[in-house]
Amino acid sequence: MFTLAHLSDPHLSPMPRPKLVELMGKRAVGYFNWRARRSIHHSPDFLSALVRDMQHRGFDHLAVTGDLVNLGLPDEYGLAHRFLESLGSGENVSMVPGNHDAYVRGTALLHIDLWKDYIAGEDAPRSGNAFPFLRRRGDLAMIGLSTAIPTAPLLATGKLGNPQLAEFERLLRETKKEGRFRVVLIHHPPVGRHSPHEVLTDAAAFREVVAREGAELVLHGHKHKAMLHQIAGPDGNVNVVGVPSASNPGGHSERGGAYNLYRIGGKPGAWACEMESFGFIPAHAGIAKIRSTKLI
Ligand SMILES: [Fe+2]
Repeated sequence: MFTLAHLSDPHLSPMPRPKLVELMGKRAVGYFNWRARRSIHHSPDFLSALVRDMQHRGFDHLAVTGDLVNLGLPDEYGLAHRFLESLGSGENVSMVPGNHDAYVRGTALLHIDLWKDYIAGEDAPRSGNAFPFLRRRGDLAMIGLSTAIPTAPLLATGKLGNPQLAEFERLLRETKKEGRFRVVLIHHPPVGRHSPHEVLTDAAAFREVVAREGAELVLHGHKHKAMLHQIAGPDGNVNVVGVPSASNPGGHSERGGAYNLYRIGGKPGAWACEMESFGFIPAHAGIAKIRSTKLI
């Protein structure tokens, strides 16, 4: 039995104080939004309590699906690196970036440099980029994708691009031959209906790859709510699971901060995967199990 943990979108705060010169264009709009609206949905104290609970329960590996920072300020990447170190080493934590981690062009690639221990794959990347990465842990193959691209103000779209999609398909095929439980990490949900300002623009191409090659589990963030969809694969449905923001103290709802544990066992052709979700439950006055779902 392998226990995989999943959390997403911590949007770390308090945000380092931006210099005036850093508040140009998209960051100015984002900073106003953060102060006026977004910051109340992200509590560092709640995030600490959630992480403590997750570490207390224990896991073999942790997947983090992006949006560690908010405005792409240089100081935010250091704060995020310390957060990653508090979760574990690159050996037992893997992460993929979200749109906020590549918020503006000037710092869009800083995460690749500063968080490299958590995104480094086992093979030298063929496309010259860090993504997709492949990390094997136990019977699992984790394939990490990047949808993080800088966009215009008020846009939160993502894109994989054809080179990454081609390599993704090759890795799915290779790791299926190895008989591994394939887990795909991606920030933007590749399925479901979403408003145009926040979609994965090549989600259809992603789904076509999964329809051809299959996968055992797809994990994402971005929407800050609990989600479960399926993509029809060659050997049955592929579960696509989204978690809420890990720092949202919003209580017991689909948007309340939570993390998931996936208990994975079985063997190729007969995998088993049970998902347990943990978040704040008012009746318990603390973090407790919200639900269990048998995925496979
Ligand atoms: Fe987010």
